[in-house]
Amino acid sequence: MKPLNKVIINKDTSFNPIWIMRQAGRYLPEFREIRKENPNFINLCLNDDLSSKITLQPLKRFNLDAAIIFSDILMLPYGIGQKVEFEKNFGPKLGELNLDEITKTDEVDFVEKIHRVYKAIKKVSLDTSLNNKNTIGFVGAPWTLLVYMINQQSPKKSLKKEFFKDEFLINRILLIIEKFLKIHIKNQIDNGANIIQIFDSWAGLLEEKDLPNYIYTPTLNLVNYVKSLNVPVICFPREIKNYKEFCDIVKPDAVSIDYNVDPKKILKEIKIPIQGGLDPKILLTDKETLKKEALNYLEIFKDHPYIFNLGHGILPETNPEMVENLIKIVKDFK
Ligand code: CP3
Repeated sequence: MKPLNKVIINKDTSFNPIWIMRQAGRYLPEFREIRKENPNFINLCLNDDLSSKITLQPLKRFNLDAAIIFSDILMLPYGIGQKVEFEKNFGPKLGELNLDEITKTDEVDFVEKIHRVYKAIKKVSLDTSLNNKNTIGFVGAPWTLLVYMINQQSPKKSLKKEFFKDEFLINRILLIIEKFLKIHIKNQIDNGANIIQIFDSWAGLLEEKDLPNYIYTPTLNLVNYVKSLNVPVICFPREIKNYKEFCDIVKPDAVSIDYNVDPKKILKEIKIPIQGGLDPKILLTDKETLKKEALNYLEIFKDHPYIFNLGHGILPETNPEMVENLIKIVKDFK
């Protein structure tokens, strides 16, 4: 059995597998090398030779338990016909959302546009160095994708009032997103992804009254869909105020927590396997601080099924040596 499945399915507490959000990325000089030659980020994701290579880069260096495919949650709006670009020092920039255009897109068009992501997953999953490791496929949650598609860039601290002005329209878009997310998930699994993580990076922007419509219902539909394909699903509803309620309603197989969550409190509240938590900024400190902070999570979750990870993506300025240190701390525990 693969390491994450042991924890998620068998509830094994005898060890803690580790992988790191954004493990394939800018803190690695070997990634920056390739990125320099490939200024168009979407095209890089769609170059299956390079994207499979980038996916494997952190696994060549470190003793990680899972590969996460080098792609982006915004491949979904791209695949259904919205323009998506990444600007240096700015982040994603999306084109105008044209409902006629995206309603015209069918499954064949979508898969044709992004099939090289699936080809990359196939290549990665056939790599024998991953025999005892997981291959993680992922998607953005419907809510987070809706935020990018309407806002056309990363939101600041909050959404503008106009965001919700046409509720009928946004509910139609949500349904389209959900339909293509299922197609995207199925193709990732068919090509070798054996876990799915759903990133809801902007869950924390919603008021409580809006959670059922924008998060609980659409995410529950996706979670049930992944379960029907017999693959474990991890949800990361970042900065949601009530993780317990989320888990009670959506029932993912495991939940990833952000660094504002009190680990002792969540341990008491949540029965399902837990992942993550450590503040990525800790990797910018020193070896001793890192050890103390990582051991805090390991000790608190020592009798609970726990996958080690960060509370959000690794920062680009992280020294890879600190990642090496972290993995050693986790592997030496127990
Ligand atoms: O190693 C991995 O985790 C796999 C690859 C991965 C990327 N993006 C590659 C990427 C994953 C899992 C994502 C998820 C993603 N993308 C999320 C959810 C997680 C989170 O961070 O909240 C979100 C919100 C996005 C959207 C996105 N993509 C943003 C906001 C940005 C710009 C900011 C940034 O961090 O650079 C991206 C670009 C992006 N996606 C990069 C990478 C490696 C950087 C591209 C570059 O080299 O400039």
